[in-house]
Amino acid sequence: MAAALANGAPLLEAIDLAVHYGGIAAVKGISFVVEAGEMVCLIGCNGAGKTSTLKALARQLPATGQLRYRGENLALLPAHALVGRGLALIPEGRGVFARLSVAENLDMGAYCRTDKGEIEADRERVYGMLPRLKERREQLAGTLSGGEQQMLALGRALMSRPSLLLLDEPSMGLAPLMVQKVFEVIERVAADGVTILLVEQNAKLALSVCRRGYVMESGRITLADQSATLLADPRVRQAYLGE
Ligand SMILES: Nc1ncnc2c1ncn2[C@@H]1O[C@H](COP(=O)(O)OP(=O)(O)OP(=O)(O)O)[C@@H](O)[C@H]1O
Ligand SMILES: [Mg+2]
Repeated sequence: MAAALANGAPLLEAIDLAVHYGGIAAVKGISFVVEAGEMVCLIGCNGAGKTSTLKALARQLPATGQLRYRGENLALLPAHALVGRGLALIPEGRGVFARLSVAENLDMGAYCRTDKGEIEADRERVYGMLPRLKERREQLAGTLSGGEQQMLALGRALMSRPSLLLLDEPSMGLAPLMVQKVFEVIERVAADGVTILLVEQNAKLALSVCRRGYVMESGRITLADQSATLLADPRVRQAYLGE
């Protein structure tokens, strides 16, 4: 369930966030919040600025405006410290290490942890949740199917014990059955208490699993509401649900 932190702050807050590539504005001053325990989506068409937003949150791109995580100014934390603070990004295209095995990829997810016994237990928990990965633990990640790579990217992120998971288009390039499987896992992760900010072009899917969402168009947030309200909005239906 969504809740403010003990200090009253949302888990994540962006205020007037902007991202530029040279002279091109990809994100034009957007503001949004993600409360602890929520699963929220950011939907929009190709080029709307969704990935740029997530990369700015993960401090992989320079941005202006304010980013607050647990009430702290994110700009003051070095990017490499974010994983240790519980903020994990699963990038568009998964970003698994193709030449490492499934098991080695999972170990990479725990690189900033030192609690060996617990890492072992978490690996078994991930294998329990994603049995396909256990069967293929010695296989090179680059030879996994797209859906298996998405499972591995999720498993690797879970190995860092995230509080906030930023997910960039987990459904991309997957057959419907695999999309369903990946989303079952995402929903289980959310049910375990991990806060999720989900970026998706598949608006119908995203709004069906998230309680509320933001709609992004040409670098701006144009709508923000409960998913049920967005799903009933004629603008959303026409632009994103093909109706
Ligand atoms: N490295 C870059 N250099 C220049 N422009 C970029 C760069 N990355 C993204 N852009 C531009 O910024 C805009 C937003 O891109 P972004 O990748 O954030 O969109 P997106 O909403 O994630 O789209 P998609 O759904 O296709 O992944 C686009 O117009 C894109 O061409
Ligand atoms: Mg993108």
